[in-house]
Amino acid sequence: MVIFQVMTASQPEPQSLDGLICFCHGVLETEIRKAIAAGAATVAAVQEKTRASTGCGGCMPEVERLIAEMLQSKTD
Ligand code: FES
Repeated sequence: MVIFQVMTASQPEPQSLDGLICFCHGVLETEIRKAIAAGAATVAAVQEKTRASTGCGGCMPEVERLIAEMLQSKTD
């Protein structure tokens, strides 16, 4: 049990699993949407602003989906 606490001590504690996109860095969908709304139009830009997709990369498809969705809604 002590090992578990040491391994998770450096990870951010998410407020809730609802809306959690990046489990590696505890990044919520709202944070990613805010970054995109502020001009982050690529995965690299979202990574720089939020750290999402800079760990295992498992959340990258969802980050890409959010970027595409928000950019599409701007052109509609
Ligand atoms: S879940 Fe986002 S980088 Fe691992």
